[in-house]
Amino acid sequence: MSANRPAAVVVLAAGEGTRMKSATPKVLHSLCGRSLVGHVVAASRELDPEHLVVVVGHAREQVSAHLAEIDPATRTAVQHEQNGTGHAVRMGLEELAGGGDAAPAGGTVVVVCGDTPLLTGETLQRLSDVHSADGNAVTVLTAEVPDSTGYGRIVRDPADGAVTAIVEHKDATEAQRAITEINSGVFAFDGALLSDALGKVRTDNSQGEEYLTDVLGILREAGHRVGAAVAADHREILGINNRVQLSEARRLLNERLLREAMLSGVTVVDPASTWVDVAVTFEPDVVVHPGTQLHGATHLAAGAEVGPGCTLTDTVVGEGARVINTVADGAHVGAEANVGPYAYLRPGTRLGRKAKAGTYVEMKNAEIGEGAKVPHLSYVGDATIGEYTNIGAASVFVNYDGEHKHHTTVGSHCRTGSDNMFVAPVTVGDGAYTAAGSVITKDVPPGALAVARGQQRNIEGWVARKRPGSAAAQAASAARKEPDGEQ
Ligand code: UD1
Ligand code: CA
Repeated sequence: MSANRPAAVVVLAAGEGTRMKSATPKVLHSLCGRSLVGHVVAASRELDPEHLVVVVGHAREQVSAHLAEIDPATRTAVQHEQNGTGHAVRMGLEELAGGGDAAPAGGTVVVVCGDTPLLTGETLQRLSDVHSADGNAVTVLTAEVPDSTGYGRIVRDPADGAVTAIVEHKDATEAQRAITEINSGVFAFDGALLSDALGKVRTDNSQGEEYLTDVLGILREAGHRVGAAVAADHREILGINNRVQLSEARRLLNERLLREAMLSGVTVVDPASTWVDVAVTFEPDVVVHPGTQLHGATHLAAGAEVGPGCTLTDTVVGEGARVINTVADGAHVGAEANVGPYAYLRPGTRLGRKAKAGTYVEMKNAEIGEGAKVPHLSYVGDATIGEYTNIGAASVFVNYDGEHKHHTTVGSHCRTGSDNMFVAPVTVGDGAYTAAGSVITKDVPPGALAVARGQQRNIEGWVARKRPGSAAAQAASAARKEPDGEQ
């Protein structure tokens, strides 16, 4: 537990986010495998607060259901009308005070906006540390930005540099608009003083709202210490208001994740065309080739080489395995296995060590033994294939009878012919062979050769009789070295 464990973190997420122009509430838009509010909640958790309350309003059922799913320990407070950030925090504090609990008097209350997904737990911790070390009533996280348009400006006393007020863009004078230090929307407060000051916030501003930012001026005028912590990297406080900013934030977060991966020993050939989710993990000496997307809980083990052109979701790639131009979802690729190019591995696919799922191969719910190969143009669904078996090109595991799925088992060291249909349920014993073009509907004993196809018969002279004078007839005639003209 941190020495500066806050009493509560209040996350503001009640706004509609009209500028997203979306049917999805703003805070539920996602980047790198997590919602905007999910990122903020995750960073807030790093502070280990006693309570974490999210203020919801717009589409609150949807947002609350999402929160219950990603972090069931969060509490929600409802802000029925979006009357401003100050009003939203008031709703959050009321929720904390309700339910028999005492208000977090004396403790630190950290306020974060639900639309700043790049904020790190580290920065929140720094803010919290500065806040308690300086004994402030409030500490605001600020940043120097190249373009301060739209943000609240930090007004400092020219004499001692102390923060005197935050002025919203819409309420700022020309001179104030020139200020490049802005309010990140993240604060650490003394909880009791915050409750008090919120009661004094007025709505006589251009938006007719209760501004949380007015609390600073109120506390300062009452003689309390108001401090600021400047963020080390202004990009961390980027607030998402529209989809341009969403894509910028996604790129920045992706760069951050790839940078961490590269510094831990992963070769990323082209970071610009490689996309990863926050939960993706790597071991050293992984190589990721261009055009690759790694989603969910995907894990790449040491020495694995993935890409170009792979989209892997919740997939484990074993040590030294090679995966090229592949889409995989919920698959497990064994060590030194080979996948692709152009393979599609669906949930429940497990490739053993040195196994192969080759070109134009689809697999689903399939267990492929060590060293077994399905090299070309095949569908393997609901199947178990033993060690070192080779499945001939263009084979289909016929698993669906129109109503139910059935399982096929092929033993170890089998050699099945090309263009086989394994009509499930069926079992091919260890060491068995099957002839090319067979439709296997009955079990094959170990070591047997199964032939399940029509006998070939040749009807001599058919082309000469039925297609006289055709190019085929002439070619046949020439092949038979018959004299010219003779048919
Ligand atoms: C706010 C700050 C501004 C700061 C900027 C940083 C105020 C008055 N302004 O402006 O100083 O520079 O963030 O990004 O605080 N929300 C509610 N209920 C409300 C209003 C807002 O929950 O009634 C939530 C929104 O969902 C959002 C957050 O508060 O997550 C910020 O609201 P937004 O409207 O985006 O504020 P900004 O205009 O960006
Ligand atoms: Ca905002």
